Amino acid sequence: MSNTCPVMHDMKMLEPTFVSDPYAYCPALLEAPVQYSPELDAYLVTRYADVDAILQDTDQFSSSNTNVPIFPPADAAIDVLKAGDVYLPPNLINADPPRHTFVRRMVADAISPRRIRGLEPFLRQWVENAVDQIAARGHGNIYQEIGFPLPAITAFSLIGFPAEDTELLKSWCDRRVTLTYGRASEDEQVRVAESVAAFWEYTNRFIETRMANPVDDFTSDMVRHHFETPEEFTQRDIASVLFGMSLAAHETTTNLISNGVRRLMENREQWEKLVADPSLIPNAVEECLRYDTPVITWRRRAKQDIEIQGILIPENATIMMMFFSANWDPARFENPEVFDVVRKEARNHLTFGKGVHFCSGAPLARLEMKIVLENLVAKVPNMNIVPGQKFEFTPNIAMRGPNSLLVTV
Ligand code: HEM
Repeated sequence: MSNTCPVMHDMKMLEPTFVSDPYAYCPALLEAPVQYSPELDAYLVTRYADVDAILQDTDQFSSSNTNVPIFPPADAAIDVLKAGDVYLPPNLINADPPRHTFVRRMVADAISPRRIRGLEPFLRQWVENAVDQIAARGHGNIYQEIGFPLPAITAFSLIGFPAEDTELLKSWCDRRVTLTYGRASEDEQVRVAESVAAFWEYTNRFIETRMANPVDDFTSDMVRHHFETPEEFTQRDIASVLFGMSLAAHETTTNLISNGVRRLMENREQWEKLVADPSLIPNAVEECLRYDTPVITWRRRAKQDIEIQGILIPENATIMMMFFSANWDPARFENPEVFDVVRKEARNHLTFGKGVHFCSGAPLARLEMKIVLENLVAKVPNMNIVPGQKFEFTPNIAMRGPNSLLVTV
């Protein structure tokens, strides 16, 4: 017989108190491994071992709800999306096998190590310039000048979007997460929906240029797959993959850079370790990913009634995998609340997921963060955060990172 599920009344995930410091809730979350959230009508799974198991079990857990808005969007926003013909069929992050297996193979081939190596010189040059500008000025905003633009530029270069359209494309990405993972006002929903529709239309026009003239980029690879299997992988499927990729690659890595640099500044002795020995940077990247995860929770749907830790979760219920508490589970990480750039098991975090949906862009995200830290450590070792600044976070259940990070150098 299953036990009664504890109800989590105290934690309001869309309130500023939660987003400003979700880690304050870790003790209460980790005490009971499954808790029901009336706010979100979802079952929160909090411990490392259970999240790890869910991620690897596609028989009992579906990914169909990963992109579904947590609250029904306003009619006015739906009208904008419909008018723009925006529709995201299950293809990758929101698909289950066998559809997922089919699309994942194409995407994995297209984000090849060769393609990532090809991007590296451009990324290095771009980061060097950005850090040089901050150094020359004596102060800067890491979020605005590096964290937000770098992942966008990287993703757009991978996809193949022309460099001269970067500013336009970036403007369409602002606050996009609020539509799916937050609770935005009707006006904001409409504004974001308009940006999404504009991005969608742009993407479709871009795909047509690549269909007429394929080159060596991610989109052209998708186009080639479409030519091989036009019925199974349509032009709309390509658009949905590009759209999903640009979201998956952007806000996530922005948060990694801002959260990670913030934590290094707040734990000065850890920063000094990197200054003294930059070979520690790859492990520091893993600890940044573990300690302050850019994606705090991610969803699944129960395919049938299932028990987790003695609690019955009903068929079709929403399950929220609490990545942030799983990464702070003392059963998996010793002294998890300590930020330690030489932590041996740092790389075991669940921040990129696990199993068949494991993040396809993990090598690229790691590379971006490594390049940023290498440049900051080498060029502005005395960098510090401006004291007294209040960090603002966009309330939403998935992506978390500060919207500004002021530094002096
Ligand atoms: C720090 C940065 C990033 C984090 C924390 C992150 C996190 C994640 C997570 C947790 C998943 C798994 C979702 C699931 O199991 O349902 C995922 C999937 C994915 N990510 Fe990332 N990601 C990051 C950067 C990137 C980048 C840079 C790219 C692209 C270049 C990317 C592309 C993808 C794609 C395409 C998937 C879907 C994979 C699939 O469903 O098979 N991500 N990411």
